[in-house]
Amino acid sequence: MRTTLIAAAILALATTSANTFARDYEAGKKKAAEVCAACHGEDGNKPLTPDTPRLGGQYYDYLVHALEAYKSGKRQNPMMSPMAQPLSKDEIRNLAHYFSKQQGLAVRY
Ligand code: HEC
Repeated sequence: MRTTLIAAAILALATTSANTFARDYEAGKKKAAEVCAACHGEDGNKPLTPDTPRLGGQYYDYLVHALEAYKSGKRQNPMMSPMAQPLSKDEIRNLAHYFSKQQGLAVRY
């Protein structure tokens, strides 16, 4: 009985923390197609101009960091800053999750 209770408590904790850091792939994909694809291209892999970076396959942490920096004003760009400013923390996580799961550049040695 006691073991069951402890197991249930652990499970509840695990579920709660998973929700706190939930990353919604489908929500990220939808937003990416609606907003980001206009400049970064489909899946973040076909940038419209040479000065627009590819996002596909970039590290999750890097994408979150970059988007938060644009949002806070630490990093500024006339094209990108207005795109990041309206994003919520959840939207940033979802977008970063989505782009990090796309195929990126492959380095051959
Ligand atoms: C109007 C065109 C445009 C749109 C729309 C746009 N971006 Fe960007 N994005 C840019 C440009 C240009 C840069 C490069 C800016 C710079 O040099 O700082 C950039 C840079 C970035 C970077 C930094 C990448 C790096 O390698 O440092 C991230 C992350 C990013 N965009 C994510 C997004 C996301 C997510 C969306 C959709 C919510 C989006 N962008 C929509 C034009 C755009």
